[in-house]
Amino acid sequence: MKKVDETRIDDLLSQLTLEEKINMIHGVGLFQSGGVPRLGIPPLKMSDGPMGVRKDFANDSWINIGTTDDYVSYLPSNSAVASTWSRDLAYITGMVLGAEARGRGKDVILAPGINIKRSPLCGRNFEYISEDPRLVEELVVPLVKGIQEYDVAACVKHLAANNQETDRLEVDTFVDERTLREIYYPGFKAAIDKGESHSIMGAYNKLYGEYCSHSKTLLTKILRDEWGYDGAVISDWGAVHDTKEAAESDLDIEMSVTGNFDNYYMANPLLEAVRKGEIKEECIDKKIRNILRTMLRLNMLGEDRKNRARGTYNAPLHREAILECAEESIILLKNDDNRLPIHKDGLKTLAIIGQNGERLHSGGGGSAEIKALYEISPLLGMKMLLGGDVDVKYAKGYYVPSKEEKKINWQKDSLKKNNISKEEEERLIALRLEEEIKGRQEELLREAVTLAKENKEVILVVGLDHEHDVEGKDRKDMKLPYGQDKLINEVLAVNPDTIVVVIAGSPVEMGSWADRAKAIVWSYYAGMEGGRALAKVIFGDVNPSGKLAETFPKNHMDSPAHKLGEFGNYGKVTYNEGVYVGYRYFDSYDIDVEFPFGHGLSYTTFAYSNLTVTVDEACNDDIDVRVQATIKNTGTSYGAEVVQVYVSDKEASVQRPIHELKDFTKVYLKPGEEETVNIILNKNSFSFFDVESHSFVVEAGEFEIQIGSSSRDIRLKETISVPGTVPGTK
Ligand code: BGC
Repeated sequence: MKKVDETRIDDLLSQLTLEEKINMIHGVGLFQSGGVPRLGIPPLKMSDGPMGVRKDFANDSWINIGTTDDYVSYLPSNSAVASTWSRDLAYITGMVLGAEARGRGKDVILAPGINIKRSPLCGRNFEYISEDPRLVEELVVPLVKGIQEYDVAACVKHLAANNQETDRLEVDTFVDERTLREIYYPGFKAAIDKGESHSIMGAYNKLYGEYCSHSKTLLTKILRDEWGYDGAVISDWGAVHDTKEAAESDLDIEMSVTGNFDNYYMANPLLEAVRKGEIKEECIDKKIRNILRTMLRLNMLGEDRKNRARGTYNAPLHREAILECAEESIILLKNDDNRLPIHKDGLKTLAIIGQNGERLHSGGGGSAEIKALYEISPLLGMKMLLGGDVDVKYAKGYYVPSKEEKKINWQKDSLKKNNISKEEEERLIALRLEEEIKGRQEELLREAVTLAKENKEVILVVGLDHEHDVEGKDRKDMKLPYGQDKLINEVLAVNPDTIVVVIAGSPVEMGSWADRAKAIVWSYYAGMEGGRALAKVIFGDVNPSGKLAETFPKNHMDSPAHKLGEFGNYGKVTYNEGVYVGYRYFDSYDIDVEFPFGHGLSYTTFAYSNLTVTVDEACNDDIDVRVQATIKNTGTSYGAEVVQVYVSDKEASVQRPIHELKDFTKVYLKPGEEETVNIILNKNSFSFFDVESHSFVVEAGEFEIQIGSSSRDIRLKETISVPGTVPGTK
């Protein structure tokens, strides 16, 4: 972390009164901590979130203040950024977020969210990066660095093991230590060590009985003592539960969701406790030091302010970066008979079916919601690209009841049936709503099927929305809502050439139609230019190069969190699957999946050859393995390939997954062009966390180096012997 002049901190600290210190360590607004104007210490102004800078609220309530100056660029979600597998694009989107946060006058942007996608059902998966800790590490670092270019603090969230939304405020999480070290901690550690994230957000949930936001184990033992973190630790909103515990913990700022700021645990109750001598003032001084250090790093104090980056928002350059990221995030899951791209020359008519064709997603999802300056839907994007001579027809295809409609039904019915219990009332209303929806669905379905019959080129745009990909609740299963499976099947039945586009933030069941669809395109919530990017991919202006950063299982019950572990429980959840998360499980146990981790097709083809692996002399207890391979574009269009390197430990004293991703690189090649990729593996590429010695160790022996296009499409491999390392060494 950047060194600062600590004497400036001493100086300010010595001038602060107890009351002023207390004011600095809790929210005095929903999105700001207190400042001390007399000493030139400003408040820390914060904002969500990962997909852009959130709209402004009233200081003390979640009232939408309805200003028109808080429209912003809407960035691709982290799941979309992750699908690019591009460190450069992660850095650039980070820069856009940082610039916009500063442009909006914020000091801390509550992003990125990096929790591991343990189950496909977690409501916030769309905000997160991957099921794989290595991919998280490699992308969180440029994201954080990009954000912080603009003197804004990233706030990497949510430390730690916050992998479900059900009972998120209370659930007690039990994960064995090796799993924490190998799967759930690495992203946070990298964000600190390499990304130098100025702040970290503690999670809501408990870990082994301690609330994460003031946990001694997590914050003191791991974060501060082991990882040496000296930035600011901010609680999740309402994640603090006890004055003494919080005060004596390594949490620095308590934030919450209510307007009674003086009553926060680290406000008046703490002031009283210090005055009575129950809590030492030094505990508070420690927090102030971390806050002031962070402010110094952000050029927020004194003369430094002159040098502080200003930022800006809604800059045209930001939109270009967002478009590029969106383009590279789109994943071609299936493309039999080269069904895609659609050739626009000579195209006269096009039918687009499905509400996700016109739906805008930016305004939902919970704290990730954005007041987007604009958002291009797929329908708009395609019309923009095709111009006026193509007759683009559209049918909604499926019916999505609006929130208002649900509310009206609820109120109408509740007036009539006041002699029955609330639960019964709710059940009846749900039933009635279901029937109503069914009726409307049938109608839309008929219209869609007719359109599909009458048109040669049909694109179905289906998927999820932020009713399902949302903070605060998990999905019940991976099924597509709103009768979409039926729609897809019936449309494919009358027009087997139909292209299926799925827009969603987390995997969906495709079993009833995936085999029959010739082409399947996947897009996460890809930001304000998402529809344009999609159109460019479909019509071949952009060759898709996105790859799955998570496995798409056939259904959620196949996934390890559900099959071996527990998920979605209230009270307590145990991660029995241990390190077998995502492909580590599916590949080790050879489970049939819909699409594997790392998968994504292109309009061109790539050949892999000439693998050489050299084990160099180990020095300082490290290991140096050089991997080289040649990748050639053997097709006819320019394209990019994500070359993935997996390592498989042939024999270990502990159970290890069949292979683990250790590195990757994205190569951009013209037709016929080739490139030799160079990858260096080190100790981390071969080690596991040894609970006996409490350290990462490499056991001497044979390892297989695998190079591939997905976790299940290994093109080259070689076995090498690697020297072991000494347990206990860092
Ligand atoms: C979420 C955080 C978010 C915070 C502030 C919480 O409910 O978990 O991710 O940053 O609210 O909106």
